[in-house]
Amino acid sequence: MEGMEKFLLKFKGYYFKRLPLDIGFIENLDNFEIRENDVFIVTYPKSGTIWFQQLLSLIYSEDHRKGAGKLETMDRVPFLEYNFRKMDFGERPSPRLFSTHLPYYLVPSGLKNKKAKIIYVYRNPKDVMCSYFHFAKNVMSQFTGTFEEFMKQFLEGRVMGSLWFDHIKGWYEHRSLFNIQFMTYEEMKKDLRGSVSKICKFLGKGLSEEDMDAVVRQATFENMKDDPLANYDNIITSGYGPNVKGHFLRKGTIGDWKNHLTVEQNERFDQIFQREMKDFPLEFIWDM
Ligand code: A3P
Repeated sequence: MEGMEKFLLKFKGYYFKRLPLDIGFIENLDNFEIRENDVFIVTYPKSGTIWFQQLLSLIYSEDHRKGAGKLETMDRVPFLEYNFRKMDFGERPSPRLFSTHLPYYLVPSGLKNKKAKIIYVYRNPKDVMCSYFHFAKNVMSQFTGTFEEFMKQFLEGRVMGSLWFDHIKGWYEHRSLFNIQFMTYEEMKKDLRGSVSKICKFLGKGLSEEDMDAVVRQATFENMKDDPLANYDNIITSGYGPNVKGHFLRKGTIGDWKNHLTVEQNERFDQIFQREMKDFPLEFIWDM
């Protein structure tokens, strides 16, 4: 797998990244205690996770909105399954904010009892694939092959997060188990303020106009890209080792796939998409 496999660990049919995975924690995840007011962002990798981490934190933290309390994204909205900071989640004050890339069937059973709120964020998979290619190659240095080789791996689900199609379909088809709101990367991009209102409504959070301005201002691509706390800069330099470099925020656009896929690759992708997503009711936005 062009060197990527050694960075992955397959557990119950799903590819995790090995680092910083605590497999004992993952084996007991079903019993992880969920609180009524926990909030989870669920994404397939490269769908805008970091964006929603920033947004959730800004919505919940007045300190963050005011630019005080200098914390990194990872400390504000930690990943459930990748506990970089070795936090004691049980000690975290409520409301706890979490991110996860987990498939629906691996999350704690408390979530399946609709105990907490979940926002599932998805992005058109051609852009996901392109973002992932750059990330695997240029940020993580875990992939050395061509775009075509990456596309094959992505379409076979041999990447962290496993198969994109399974992830979204699994969550959507089991949505009645969860208290879940589906949102797209693209709607955020097209109307950030309207999307923040939608998120707040789902979460039952009322924000003043002034607070709303502060959230929107600090969640734009330009502001996040220049903010090392919002761009995983420290995690990248300290958490993964010397070969890992760059930023999570790369281009932040809709339709970058047009700069990557050949006509033949695009047709092949479309065929697979149509076969896999036949009868799937959610809409995808492919262009700005
Ligand atoms: P690109 O590589 O296409 O630029 P994740 O956090 O799930 O890994 O997703 C990363 C992708 O989300 C990157 O996509 C990144 O640039 C984009 N992103 C992050 N914050 C963003 C923002 N504020 N506005 C637009 N895109 C953003």
